[in-house]
Amino acid sequence: MDQEMNERIVGATPPGTQDRESAAQAVREMFSSIAPRYDLLNHVLSFNIDRFWWWRTARRFDAILQRPEARVLDLCCGTGDMAFALHRRALRRRVGSGASHILGADFSHAMLQRAAAKAQEKDKDKEKGSGATLCWIEADALRLPFPDEHFNLVTSAFGFRNLADYDAGLREIARVLAPGGECGILDFGEPGGLIGQCYRVYFKKVLPAVGTMISGVRGPYAYLPASVERFPAPDEMLERMRLAGFLEVSWTPYTFGIAGLYRGVKSV
Ligand SMILES: C[S@@+](CC[C@H](N)C(=O)[O-])C[C@H]1O[C@@H](n2cnc3c(N)ncnc32)[C@H](O)[C@@H]1O
Repeated sequence: MDQEMNERIVGATPPGTQDRESAAQAVREMFSSIAPRYDLLNHVLSFNIDRFWWWRTARRFDAILQRPEARVLDLCCGTGDMAFALHRRALRRRVGSGASHILGADFSHAMLQRAAAKAQEKDKDKEKGSGATLCWIEADALRLPFPDEHFNLVTSAFGFRNLADYDAGLREIARVLAPGGECGILDFGEPGGLIGQCYRVYFKKVLPAVGTMISGVRGPYAYLPASVERFPAPDEMLERMRLAGFLEVSWTPYTFGIAGLYRGVKSV
């Protein structure tokens, strides 16, 4: 499997795209076009389970988040919900030592604008605290503007699947992680059995129709099930993580495997 995997570039290919550059551009345009309705659609189409998935993922990395001065990058942060979940967990740390730094990165300006506006709203309310900072940066996950070995944790929620080259994405995550740092990739899966059959009807028929109706944009919500179908199955994804230099790789299914968390540790 290793040699075959090394030879193929596997990544997102929205309709009409032929190479990494055109795929990335189509993905950026797609998310920018749905940015105004993205949060509403996420919550409606997932029946609000998305909030639980972000929370569960952030909780998985408590040990890192509660370290003083931990450096955390949330890749493909979109409108920020994964980053907010990480920030909330980091704020639980007892005050007294240096703050952790959480950075949300995305290449869609429109998605980041929503993230920043939501952060401002939250600041006004209650989620202030000196234990953790939260900032945003416009950046491409395949060409991150950070030095080697900079972060203690890199996460990505429902974004990694959209990269035009998964192996290049994993290598870039490994590059910016400090030795012993952890990577957490939350993404959709394909549940099996009877639940899987029912879910597929919902995911392939109902979700694209409702998504297109509410967003007013044709395309992105048909691309979603197609991109999940193309995404490597857990065993293959774990092998790709090993090849990129991660140890202790694991996949934890969430909600019957509708989503799941890939985790790995960068070798010391
Ligand atoms: C499905 S959204 C996920 C947003 C958020 N993480 C969440 O959980 O709701 C995918 C995001 O990945 C971003 N994205 C896709 N490819 C990217 C790349 N190469 N570099 C940076 N961001 C990327 C898109 O712009 C989009 O905001």
